[in-house]
Amino acid sequence: SEVELAIRGGMIVTADGMRRADVGIAGGRVVALAERIEGAAQVIEADGLWVMPGGVDTHCHIEEPNAAGGLSEESFITASRAAFAGGTTSTVSFIPQWKGHGILERADDYARRAATGMLDHSFHQIITDPTDEVLERELPQVVARGIRSLKVFLTYDAVHLSDAEYLRVLRAARKHQCLVHVHCENYDAIKWRIEALLAAGLTAPKYHAWARPPVVEREATHRAIALAELVDQPIQVFHVSCAEVAEEIAAAQARGVKVWGETCPQYVTLTADDMARTSAKDGAFEGAKFICSPAPRGADEHERVWDMIRRGVLDVVSSDHCAYSFEGPNGKRQNGTDRFDRIPNGIPGITARLPLMFSEGVSKGRITPEHFVRLVATNPAKMLGLWPRKGGIHVGADADIALWDPQRKRTLTNAMMQHVADYTPYEGMEVTGWPVRVLRRGESVMENDQVTAQPGTGQFLPRAPYDMIAPRGITPNGFAD
Ligand code: URP
Ligand code: ZN
Ligand code: ZN
Ligand code: ZN
Repeated sequence: SEVELAIRGGMIVTADGMRRADVGIAGGRVVALAERIEGAAQVIEADGLWVMPGGVDTHCHIEEPNAAGGLSEESFITASRAAFAGGTTSTVSFIPQWKGHGILERADDYARRAATGMLDHSFHQIITDPTDEVLERELPQVVARGIRSLKVFLTYDAVHLSDAEYLRVLRAARKHQCLVHVHCENYDAIKWRIEALLAAGLTAPKYHAWARPPVVEREATHRAIALAELVDQPIQVFHVSCAEVAEEIAAAQARGVKVWGETCPQYVTLTADDMARTSAKDGAFEGAKFICSPAPRGADEHERVWDMIRRGVLDVVSSDHCAYSFEGPNGKRQNGTDRFDRIPNGIPGITARLPLMFSEGVSKGRITPEHFVRLVATNPAKMLGLWPRKGGIHVGADADIALWDPQRKRTLTNAMMQHVADYTPYEGMEVTGWPVRVLRRGESVMENDQVTAQPGTGQFLPRAPYDMIAPRGITPNGFAD
């Protein structure tokens, strides 16, 4: 086939190796990889640059309802700009369910919303109310639309599931071949801690971390895995914050259980002490900028999380981008109070994900470049059934490519993030390595911080059944329903 566009002279980095070669692109796909590609209509010179797959971010909260009843500020358009600015080209975000409502009623709405953006995308279906109607009649219709992953919460007032409800979701997921992603924290334990802290008059942002120490995450992770093992349903544990939680996953993996662990840049860069920060302008409320769940831990935890990444126990790094401005109607200050339990949970990070992991991981010698690609692109694509279309640079794959300058040093500022939020928790951090140009399906969508993609150009990525999410066929006594 005719090569329309060639990326010439770069160092191609994929999950399984690095090599100097040209990339030939036509019709939005990679059509050739060769030492030298001649005769392309258009050429991008990539001397000195690393040619890596566009990031695949499988955990992003975009236009999602918040506890206050409003929509999170990040739109699919602003999220697309932010993602491209940081080298990410595909996302999986969430379709909400409200208790007492079905899961189909918002399906068209979210399909339409996401199609206004520029990212190639899929969705996780959140389940907060697993009735028979939802699991037996509606879920097959969601799956028929090409959505094959469910998200459940074991904590948060408005959305948490009991063990009985979680078991029902696992069973339905097994029947309809979906992956289940689990937010693992013990609801009752956190509720009790919050009440005790408030009763003691301890209300500042830093008490967010006190309310949900590692043990509540470890307990819920252990339970989530045990119940998934009982049902024989593959799960991914979302946003693992520390090694003792990852050890629960490692132990189950050693038994052959299909459980995977995701972590996020905040768990190797931020700490519980950040929530105790003060500023002249905002006093102790400054710490609210770092509130997310699970909470960032002690600084000594970062190297232990890196160990778990190197062991392969944590094999996907997502952003968990969930942007609430500090000021503003839905923001961190929305209740005009300093009570930690009323501050919306979540931090913006869709842009910074790749630069932070590259800099802290590759530039500081903690992981290889290939491992970086696996964590941020290849593994998430495989986990979500988007491989081999997404997550790699091989003939037939979509030409989603980020050209990196591995030496480029930058100091992170909020303006560089291009997200809607009015702050970044990573303000002032130094990184080495930056994506200088991004292609999505062969089209140049970002160059030197300028995002040029047109709204409405993102494509939905339907997913068919795939091996990773098939049950093992192993249940106690060989009995399953
Ligand atoms: O604090 C967080 N992580 N907010 C986003 C929602 C979630 O729990 O993933
Ligand atoms: Zn309804
Ligand atoms: Zn979560
Ligand atoms: Zn999340």
